[in-house]
Amino acid sequence: MKAATTRGFGPRARLMIKDVNKPKIGADDVLVEVHASSVNPKDWKLNYNISSLVPKVGSLSNFHIIGDDLAGVIVERGSNVSNFKVGDKVYGMDMRLRTAACGEYACIATKRIAHMPKNISFNEAAAVPLAALTALQAFQMGPVSDGSKVLVIGASGGVGTFAIQIAKAMGAEVTGVCSGKNIELVTSLGADKVIDYTQGDFKAENNNFDLVFDATAYESLTTCASLMAEDGLFVTTSGHGKALFNAYRPHLFMGSKSARPVWVESYTSDLEILTDFIESGAVTPVIDSVHQLANIEDAYTRNKTGRSRGKVVIQIV
Ligand SMILES: NC(=O)c1ccc[n+]([C@@H]2O[C@H](COP(=O)([O-])OP(=O)(O)OC[C@H]3O[C@@H](n4cnc5c(N)ncnc54)[C@H](OP(=O)(O)O)[C@@H]3O)[C@@H](O)[C@H]2O)c1
Repeated sequence: MKAATTRGFGPRARLMIKDVNKPKIGADDVLVEVHASSVNPKDWKLNYNISSLVPKVGSLSNFHIIGDDLAGVIVERGSNVSNFKVGDKVYGMDMRLRTAACGEYACIATKRIAHMPKNISFNEAAAVPLAALTALQAFQMGPVSDGSKVLVIGASGGVGTFAIQIAKAMGAEVTGVCSGKNIELVTSLGADKVIDYTQGDFKAENNNFDLVFDATAYESLTTCASLMAEDGLFVTTSGHGKALFNAYRPHLFMGSKSARPVWVESYTSDLEILTDFIESGAVTPVIDSVHQLANIEDAYTRNKTGRSRGKVVIQIV
């Protein structure tokens, strides 16, 4: 089968389409004919460090196949699998380093997938798992409910476009932060208010947000403290550096304000919550661009600009 693989690590890591063996499935897995995948910053960040050289335990044959998100059709199921059948349309991802999703077939554990929403295409479904689960799991920490005041920084990106819609679907009053060119997009997603971060320092203002969700991974509890209610929560997508340090810092200097990082994980139950949001019309994936597997380098180049408006999708079938 054809798959997008990577050679080397660091900024010079190269993407290649190669012929590789079809993955073999275990008792709790399914084999998915992948119709589409999508790009997340993690995909290319992984190639910048040594972890791109670490094989995925138990599936050495998929060593270099990239990609996490997948949407496709089940063509084979393991002996323990009863809740999915051959022919089912599914979507999901697996955070064991990589799902190895950017290939014609991928093996994935059933606890990491759900049935695809009935009202969207494979390309749209492939945009959902990693980014939308990140936003959902950030808000589950809140928790966000009717009347909560939520600020989403990075509202026009892959995670942010889902975050605005999911927070609204959970009943929150939502403010989005983006650059001027994306105000219309973020407003169209349902934001009650939109702040253009290029027009002054919004972080210097006093506000009383119950939850500040930083989907840019640039901010910290310290930089956003004045925006937060007394017992407000700051949630970051950053997995390293100052933002993470602040997330774990004792609350001594911030009163009862607190911070936590979100580490996305895929669970069928959370994907099913997203399926409900999508099928009810509350959440619609925003697609920045669609690229064929053969042109995957273009998809990565686009996402690496940091200017994606929604998700960059890779069409495989
Ligand atoms: N911890 C986890 O589990 C987890 C999960 C998912 C993602 N992440 C991380 O979260 C970050 C976002 O991921 P993503 O998929 O949403 O990335 P993305 O799609 O590449 O986000 C791009 C967006 O960021 C916006 N942006 C850039 N600088 C900004 C700023 N200073 N203020 C507000 N918005 C700004 C851009 O809007 P403009 O063009 O308008 O500036 C663009 O729309 C990445 O660092 C990713 O690695 C972590």
